Amino acid sequence: MACQKFVPAKSNSDGEDEMKALTWNGKNDIRCESVPDPKIEHDRDAIIKVTACAICGSDLHLFDGIMPSMEKGDVLGHETMGEVVEVGKGNSKLKVGDRVVVPFTISCGECFFCKKGFFSGCERSNPNAKAAEKMWGHSPAGLFGYSHMLGGFAGGQAQFLRVPYADVGPIKVPEGLTDDQVLFLSDIFPTGYMAADFCNLKGGETVAIWGCGPVGQFAIKSAFLLGAERVIAIDTVPERLALAKASGAIMLDFMQEDIYDRIQELTQGRGADACIDAVGTEPATGSGFDAVIDRIKVATFMGTDRPHVLRQAIHCCRNFGTVSIVGVYGGLLDNMPMGSAINRGLTFRMAQTPVQHYLPKLLERIEKGEIDPSFVITHRATLEEGPELYKTFRAKKDGCIKVVMRPNG
Ligand SMILES: NC(=O)c1ccc[n+]([C@@H]2O[C@H](COP(=O)([O-])OP(=O)(O)OC[C@H]3O[C@@H](n4cnc5c(N)ncnc54)[C@H](O)[C@@H]3O)[C@@H](O)[C@H]2O)c1
Ligand SMILES: [Zn+2]
Ligand SMILES: [Zn+2]
Repeated sequence: MACQKFVPAKSNSDGEDEMKALTWNGKNDIRCESVPDPKIEHDRDAIIKVTACAICGSDLHLFDGIMPSMEKGDVLGHETMGEVVEVGKGNSKLKVGDRVVVPFTISCGECFFCKKGFFSGCERSNPNAKAAEKMWGHSPAGLFGYSHMLGGFAGGQAQFLRVPYADVGPIKVPEGLTDDQVLFLSDIFPTGYMAADFCNLKGGETVAIWGCGPVGQFAIKSAFLLGAERVIAIDTVPERLALAKASGAIMLDFMQEDIYDRIQELTQGRGADACIDAVGTEPATGSGFDAVIDRIKVATFMGTDRPHVLRQAIHCCRNFGTVSIVGVYGGLLDNMPMGSAINRGLTFRMAQTPVQHYLPKLLERIEKGEIDPSFVITHRATLEEGPELYKTFRAKKDGCIKVVMRPNG
């Protein structure tokens, strides 16, 4: 298809086209700034005009300055959807005017991993793979708006987004579904679903889920969709626990109750069949004694991560149960109770979500009305309000669970 041009947002004094975007400028410093418009760089690219984008818990790791290889001015955002306004000449899948949701993982669709459905392991999409290999042994896929080690791709909290390999990732939205219903197919719905999918549920199980943020909320819904009999949801933020309860979960407040004791009580002393960590490396202050030690180690550069929740999830899991990890960790995790895991036969599953693998069946569930993902949205905003809403979401103020922004009004 011929390359079709779109009308840019506006031009600066040098004649360069500009758009508005949220940029990273250091710890706790997100700004709404003018940046150059994205351009088609490869034949398979597409440019989308963003109609809706969201702030993710993973963006908070950037906001908190704990993700290495961010650079001043990097455009943030990896939960994005919009309208195709330009397509590269090698892209026969998309056409101008298509309405699409863009997965946060960038995948070529052709390599060893993509062919097996492990899209977030794509071995071609990270141009800075060498940096990731140094840290992790091998590189995963490139991600939108998520550090230079993961490709340095500009993100989608912006008016326009360049989508590499746009003939693989974006999924077309069927008529009749609103942005609010489909936006979270870009990340948190597949991520929560994967967390439950990893638990290999057969029906009748008890699943314990740490974290009732957006990802935890989708893990709760998905665990029920996949056959769990009971879900135990753990957090301390009242609105988040209330939303978990509305989905049918039993609420536990980790600031008020001993989580291990309560799970023992609820499972006749056996432990939960599966435990999901939907918190990751930044548990709240007050999470427990080992969490204090973790905090000191990280603050003094003696450690990289704070895996309190993962330790607790391992202890609370029954013999031969599954620990499913979707909360993000970055480096080397100290004091992991591997003795508990190996002697009791636990299975560990974890990943950055291979979003494309889950998209078709989750879209189908939305179309059938089995789930309406918009239930997590608490705040709607313009892009200009984005920096303030990063703070609100970080502090969990004002009942904030999920922020959706409309960069083009
Ligand atoms: N694997 C993936 O592909 C993927 C995709 C999206 C997000 N994530 C990760 O998932 C995690 C959650 O994302 P989110 O958007 O829901 O973030 P969030 O920060 O809104 O939610 C985290 C929740 O954990 C709760 N929490 C803190 N300490 C706790 C403790 N000790 N016990 C139980 N709960 C505790 C917080 O109160 C909060 O509600 C993040 O680490 C994020 O990076 C992973
Ligand atoms: Zn995310
Ligand atoms: Zn690939």
